[in-house]
Amino acid sequence: MTALTLSTSPAATVRADAVVVGVAKGAKGVVVAPGAEAVDKAFGGKLAAVLETLGASGAEGEVTKLPAADGLKAPVVLAVGLGDAPAKGDTYDNEALRRAAGSAARALSGTKKAGFALPVEDAEAAAAVSEGALLGAYAFTAYRSSNGAGAKGKKNDDRSAPLGEVAILGGKPRDKEFKAAAERAVALADEINRARDLINMPSNDLDPKSFAAQAQAAAKEFGLKVEVLDEKALKKGGYGGLMGVGQGSEAPPRLVRIAHTHPKADKTLALVGKGITYDSGGISLKPAGHNETMKCDMSGAAAVFAAVVAAARLGLRVNITGWLALAENMPSGSATRPGDVLTMYSGKTVEVLNTDAEGRLVLADALTRASEESPDAIVDVATLTGAMVLALGNRTFGIMANDDAFRTSIHEIAEEVGEQSWPMPMPAELRKGMDSPVADIANMGERMGGGLVAGLFLKEFVGEGITWAHLDIAGPAFHEGAPWGYTPKGGTGSAVRTLVRLAERTAAGDLG
Ligand code: BES
Ligand code: MN
Ligand code: ZN
Repeated sequence: MTALTLSTSPAATVRADAVVVGVAKGAKGVVVAPGAEAVDKAFGGKLAAVLETLGASGAEGEVTKLPAADGLKAPVVLAVGLGDAPAKGDTYDNEALRRAAGSAARALSGTKKAGFALPVEDAEAAAAVSEGALLGAYAFTAYRSSNGAGAKGKKNDDRSAPLGEVAILGGKPRDKEFKAAAERAVALADEINRARDLINMPSNDLDPKSFAAQAQAAAKEFGLKVEVLDEKALKKGGYGGLMGVGQGSEAPPRLVRIAHTHPKADKTLALVGKGITYDSGGISLKPAGHNETMKCDMSGAAAVFAAVVAAARLGLRVNITGWLALAENMPSGSATRPGDVLTMYSGKTVEVLNTDAEGRLVLADALTRASEESPDAIVDVATLTGAMVLALGNRTFGIMANDDAFRTSIHEIAEEVGEQSWPMPMPAELRKGMDSPVADIANMGERMGGGLVAGLFLKEFVGEGITWAHLDIAGPAFHEGAPWGYTPKGGTGSAVRTLVRLAERTAAGDLG
């Protein structure tokens, strides 16, 4: 894992393999961002001009490496683009810093240590640079035969080891706020990377049982309370949604309750995660081209798990109960058939018209169970619908809620932590599409507005009077394109930062 330090070394003399500086697009060409003054001085005050000669523009994500000038201890200078320079008197946007730090860290894989001389005027900026660097340095290495080597022992540069150490320069290492910000960034990045590892782990190694075992191990390590309902307990308890989805698989379902409590907490937040360790579609099998990435269908549960552990590590003064609804959706002789009727944990009956609409079934049981404890609010997180990806694209999650103010709060919190999201409606007229001739509700409705239909389904399983929001992260959870900023290929850890900030806000009494 990549280490982080707040360093007192000046950028010119830091002992590192590279020093990272920021460049931006100014009105009259490339400008060097604050923090890089000493590096610019070593270049005779001409760093911007040198970079321009090399073709740099300051565009977001652009990386330019150059040999260091005399007077610099680090042998390499890496200039990373921050996009448009802020107006005079303004500071750089935290998300621009987070992304730039991520791009720089990625470009420095294979390197032991880098000093980051980016603008870190306040603790929040230092936190953003720290998060970006630690998230950008992430690599999923568990299945490589060796670091830095291809399968046949050939050197493969794309697969070199992650950057070993990030030293944040120019901050205030002895300042309480900076120290706390760095500690928070480490805990947060560790947990986001934990979620990424789980998402990236192939389904032949991550099934409901082994996922639950990971929750138990983390609970032990970080002092959380954990309970696991196995298939026997689920059957006995009447969890028809979880059992119905999981019954086609050799790997039976689990419901995990993992809880962080604080003796002085006066609020309780319940987080519910969709944890389909593989979504084949079941008997309503997905066609080829739609199932290659479906190991990612437990991203919601991974985000919830990570957020609860982060809350414990940060000692937040709030109770957070995570519910991981774990099942594998497979076709077999024992699988649920289209047309089958399930009796859910709430007692409601559901006609399963499409076994590929399985997420809402496992979530429904977990939402009902979570509601029994009367939390102050419930937030569920799920890779729930392809329709949400069609609506919002690959980088933005949708937010639905039974309370407009809560939906707005979550949207604002996401914005604040640099996660793209958008509020979505729950049009009541879409409910009738789920009317079933045989059961209380069907698990499918109109195709148009499919993401909203799924939200309306979930809403019926939330306890009376409980504030609830649903985050559909089907777009941003798993990144198939080229890495960018601090976003790697594969699992992204979408929603973890939003959930942790929501927990912090709840602890501070900022919400209702
Ligand atoms: N896990 C999928 C949704 C999904 C799609 C996640 C793309 C990530 C990327 C979900 O279980 C699903 O199959 N949903 C169906 C619902 C439909 C059958 C009502 C869908 O969106 O097509
Ligand atoms: Mn599905
Ligand atoms: Zn699914």
